[in-house]
Amino acid sequence: MTSKRIWILVAGILVVSGCGKSADRAQPAAQPRPAPAAQVAPTINELMTKVVVPQSAVLWGVSNAAQDNDGNVDASKVTNASWLLITDAAMQMKEASEALGTREKSVVAASGVVIQDANTASGSSAAQVQGFIDAAPAAFRDRAGALAVVSDQMVQAAATHNAGQLGAAAAKLDEVCEQCHVQFWYPQQMRRQQ
Ligand code: HEC
Repeated sequence: MTSKRIWILVAGILVVSGCGKSADRAQPAAQPRPAPAAQVAPTINELMTKVVVPQSAVLWGVSNAAQDNDGNVDASKVTNASWLLITDAAMQMKEASEALGTREKSVVAASGVVIQDANTASGSSAAQVQGFIDAAPAAFRDRAGALAVVSDQMVQAAATHNAGQLGAAAAKLDEVCEQCHVQFWYPQQMRRQQ
């Protein structure tokens, strides 16, 4: 629910700043202007921890619980309520990944936030991750685009109650997370293994 609140907050601020603009135009130039609203685009860390992680847990939770002995998702084990959960989770993840995949610059974390594994020998600090992304912003957007595509496949699977498509997308999701992480979160771990 927290993730929903973020989006509502962002949408609310966009509306407020939009209104501000038209009000400005109507005001005489001499009138004092309110200070511009602060930038509130959620950081990568916020999108990961508040949207991508909990929503992917819902998606994997439902698909894993419905697997048959061969590891395929069995449609008879996915209830209508579960399909609704998938739609909601996949749409939230799609929205977050579209934000990451379209905006010019993504800030990794707010100042003072210590990202996961930053204090370990093989981890990265937020500043290091920012450097990796700023060096290849288009590749980062492509990786985020891949997350949007797989999220959309989940939405489609839920719309048509297609268990096969859900299983395939759930497996693909794992790859999509990892491909972005090895490139932008802890690329030094790959280099060390080579
Ligand atoms: C487009 C790139 C991208 C994709 C796709 C992506 N992530 Fe991330 N993720 C990152 C980056 C960059 C970080 C490092 C910043 C951070 O730790 O907050 C990160 C950090 C994380 C963290 C650590 C958060 C923390 O507390 O520091 C988790 C957990 C995580 N991702 C889970 C996932 C899962 C699960 C998926 C797939 C469902 C996923 N990510 C997909 C880019 C991505």
